[in-house]
Amino acid sequence: MEPADRPAAGQEWSAADYARNARFVADLAAPLLGWLVPVAGERILDLGCGDGALTEKLVASGATVRAVDASPEMVDGARARGLDALVVDAHELPFTQEFDAVFSNAALHWMKRDPDAVLASVFRALKPGGRFVAELGAHGNCAQVRDAVQAAFAARGLDARPLDPWYFPTLQDYRARLEKAGFAVQRMERFDRPTPLPGDVTAWLETFGGAFTAHLDDATRRAILADVRQRLEARLFHDGRWVLDYVRLRFIAIRPA
Ligand code: BEZ
Repeated sequence: MEPADRPAAGQEWSAADYARNARFVADLAAPLLGWLVPVAGERILDLGCGDGALTEKLVASGATVRAVDASPEMVDGARARGLDALVVDAHELPFTQEFDAVFSNAALHWMKRDPDAVLASVFRALKPGGRFVAELGAHGNCAQVRDAVQAAFAARGLDARPLDPWYFPTLQDYRARLEKAGFAVQRMERFDRPTPLPGDVTAWLETFGGAFTAHLDDATRRAILADVRQRLEARLFHDGRWVLDYVRLRFIAIRPA
């Protein structure tokens, strides 16, 4: 799940809200699990585990899984599933050469404060020869939503850009950061993944974009959400469904033996 680290300033996470509006995040991760290929007996770190829905699938492979997230609410949700979950800042993972693999789905883009510190921390946590398998939003991810939020703020003389909690790097940028951290990139892809939402774009924004509106008074917050919805409707609402313009970055990077 990105935060200055999840949670970003102003971004609150509720396990119930996440289950209602963000279950698709774990549901769409099957291909990433196919890149990880977890093996029974391995030690795996799930970085940014959210409420643990995906961590459970790692555990089902027979691996020994440690789950971490910066949000105490999310970690409570993961623990309620019986998972070994810890509240930890990904910039400072307290692990040295402990894991055969570090896995991360839809979390690194919340870790905006210092992506290089996160990668150094992951590198340190892996055993030599270990793999880092992850997916995050790529440059251009949800660009129409970001633009609509900025336009709705600007229409009221406000600037959304300093509040934007998301880090969506280009493939070239992130590959260079991985290599600078010492990783050998084995495979890396950027692809469009139009993503149907389970409900309204307003609910999605309230779940994922709380950092934009947390400081606003109620009336302004409601007006901005309605304005964003209206700006996006013609482009992203089709056949009774919202489909967002997700773009993904997926990679396997190895800590050399
Ligand atoms: C994502 O998982 O791609 C995402 C997360 C937060 C905001 C937008 C997109």
